[in-house]
Amino acid sequence: MTPEYSVDNSGSKPVLKIGRAALAAGIIGREVSVHTVYKLKRLIASGGMGTVCEAEQFGSDGFIKNVAIKLLLPELTKNQEFVSMFMGEAKLAACLVHQNIVQIYQLGKSDESYFIAMEYIDGIDLEQFISRHAASGRKIPPELAVYITSRICRGLEYAHNRRDENGERLDIVHRDISPRNIMITSEGEVKIADFGVAKARRKAAARMRDNIMVGKIPYMSPEQATYEPTDPRSDIFSLGVVFYELLTGVSIFDKPTEEQSISEITSGVRRDPRSYRSELPQSIAEIVLCCLELNAAARFQTAGELGYVLENHMYSKGYGPTIITLAQYMAKLYPDRKFYVAPSRGDNLSVSVLRS
Ligand SMILES: Nc1ncnc2c1ncn2[C@@H]1O[C@H](COP(=O)(O)OP(=O)(O)OP(=O)(O)O)[C@@H](O)[C@H]1O
Ligand SMILES: [Mg+2]
Repeated sequence: MTPEYSVDNSGSKPVLKIGRAALAAGIIGREVSVHTVYKLKRLIASGGMGTVCEAEQFGSDGFIKNVAIKLLLPELTKNQEFVSMFMGEAKLAACLVHQNIVQIYQLGKSDESYFIAMEYIDGIDLEQFISRHAASGRKIPPELAVYITSRICRGLEYAHNRRDENGERLDIVHRDISPRNIMITSEGEVKIADFGVAKARRKAAARMRDNIMVGKIPYMSPEQATYEPTDPRSDIFSLGVVFYELLTGVSIFDKPTEEQSISEITSGVRRDPRSYRSELPQSIAEIVLCCLELNAAARFQTAGELGYVLENHMYSKGYGPTIITLAQYMAKLYPDRKFYVAPSRGDNLSVSVLRS
């Protein structure tokens, strides 16, 4: 092993050489201060809590990284209770690093407005994906609906099980699993956005009595709709609503009034998805209906369990959908956009393996 310090006496004067480890030890604890500048390039959309823009983050020597910035609504940031709750939840969400979750890079304040800098998703959200199909009278292939849902499960499973450095559960629940908060990237990855922020929003909404703030009622679990405490099984219910919509094109709890939506959610009566799409396999209908059970104890108990059941459905008989399948499908669905399609599939590989 290289010693940390050595003296080189070969020259006219002795030279002290410091090993890398010693150098590193000297810098631990030192603060590296940077003033980050973001330039907002393009408005992406406005949602329940603010505005999302594509932006550039500048570093030294011409470094530029594309990010997304969500600027919180000014009226929200005037509400101190909301801000502290929002910051608390967003700080937890910032520790989530997973391939199926949109990563948060920074929480900041510029002038009086708070913002979140996050991974920029070059892609589309599930609401756009579903409406694209509706507009062309197409149905989403059931296997892809299963694949997308299974990826969301893996992101949820990771977040639900996060613990702090002392091993204590962080009890992270998304609370706003809905098509606009799920994105498909240009590489065919599926990512959940806006982890944790719904809790703060809901609190603020209750106080401000502002309907725009209440969130997406048709995707709420019965316990959310009745202001009961929520746990990860609430996210499984909301995911069930999204899964149902991917399979049938129907948002089952989207009714003319909020009261009607809530009454449907809490009634416990669920229509078999095969009444909208008869070719769906019974096993899939059973899985989605299990997610939508009124009583949380009757649903899949964890996102991991649901993910396993879906993956088992896709892969138990052999090769099933992958990130490449989804990217190829997206490329066909959006010929005007750049969806990455791998230059070759496994066919070439299997031929060469067989020949060798
Ligand atoms: N990181 C991101 N990269 C690219 N586009 C994004 C990103 N986050 C969100 N978007 C897009 O911006 C839209 C609006 O997002 P936003 O989160 O503000 O609204 P929302 O999801 O409708 O409401 P909510 O406040 O409940 O999350 C999304 O539907 C999505 O299409
Ligand atoms: Mg969102």
